[in-house]
Amino acid sequence: MTSKVFAPAKINLTLHVTGQRNDGYHLLDSLVVFADLGDRLWFTPQDHLSLKVTGPFADGVPADERNLVWKAAKSVGHTAAITLEKNLPHGAGIGGGSSDAAAVLRHFGKGENAALLGADVPVCLAGRAQRMQGVGDELTGVLGLPALHAVLVHPGVHVPTPEVFKALKDNQNSAMSKVLPSPETTLDFIDWLSSQRNDLEVPAVSAAPEIKSALDAINRCAGTMLSRMSGSGSTCFGLFENSTDAQQAARSIGTAQSHWWVRSCVLT
Ligand code: C5P
Repeated sequence: MTSKVFAPAKINLTLHVTGQRNDGYHLLDSLVVFADLGDRLWFTPQDHLSLKVTGPFADGVPADERNLVWKAAKSVGHTAAITLEKNLPHGAGIGGGSSDAAAVLRHFGKGENAALLGADVPVCLAGRAQRMQGVGDELTGVLGLPALHAVLVHPGVHVPTPEVFKALKDNQNSAMSKVLPSPETTLDFIDWLSSQRNDLEVPAVSAAPEIKSALDAINRCAGTMLSRMSGSGSTCFGLFENSTDAQQAARSIGTAQSHWWVRSCVLT
């Protein structure tokens, strides 16, 4: 019997870099949520591991042991015929590969060694709103956040994560408040988010000015309440009060920049 697993896009609503460990990894304080769009995986039992990659972003994605999906299945010692439908741009700050790996661990019911597959895999395994601290390994569930109407914009450039961290001038920045607020309305939530940051945005924009173009395009849309980059980029998100504004923004950015990946979605 074939089973299907959804691997949602991960969005860092905030990403504060608060320090660096001796091994070079950075200490983070990040509020992470998930979108209602993402990759999809199908698992059919068989006695060896195989992987087929399909979908709009399949190009250039290895279908062998280099793929995190393969590594995740190997790490838990399970086999299956896996089909991965890549709907998300990869290396884009929205956790594509990490979310795919987490989907594999979830399917096989084994997540103990998620962090060994990558810093974002544990939060993707959680799959719902989390405060992510440490190097990505300290997770605290965040309940009761209002859903957010968003547009995601990937301006077609890829900036390697290590490069962005390396270009960060100051890695000793303030954390979020010890206790996160419990906003009752979308507007209160966005208002608080506006006072937070993604510390990787400045170094990522220096490496790839297209990211600034994406943020500018989001800011020009009617009803944009906040624009920010997710993760180490290059995907940026815009937040809106309602789905009509988010969908309209996606249409207008997508029309003006037909080579960018632009989607409206709900973040929860
Ligand atoms: O763990 P992952 O392979 O996703 O991390 C990619 C790179 O991002 C690391 O090699 C490191 O340069 C950087 N990174 C970091 N601090 C973190 C997470 C990632 O410096 N907490």
